[in-house]
Amino acid sequence: MALLQRVAEQGRRVVRFTLDGRPVEALEGDTVMTAMLTNGERLRRTEFADSPRAGFCMMGACQDCWVRTEEGERLRACGTFIADGMRLLSGGEWTS
Ligand code: FES
Repeated sequence: MALLQRVAEQGRRVVRFTLDGRPVEALEGDTVMTAMLTNGERLRRTEFADSPRAGFCMMGACQDCWVRTEEGERLRACGTFIADGMRLLSGGEWTS
């Protein structure tokens, strides 16, 4: 189940990536946040209470949207564009 549903503007090139090992698709120009939340229920789990997070400010100020790639890279989901071949994680893999 996805947290966000795309309702308009679907004519862009498809970008393929994985989310928790699952092959999924987004559209070119989507942020990592949009790509993840149109394919899943959260960006990550908090390091404090293990609760799901989906970002807050959407403009790079709150630091609530940091996610990790399978390679261990940290990305700010609201300010990073999705790219072909990204391998993103949304689960309990979060460690600071
Ligand atoms: S949602 Fe606030 S920094 Fe990304």
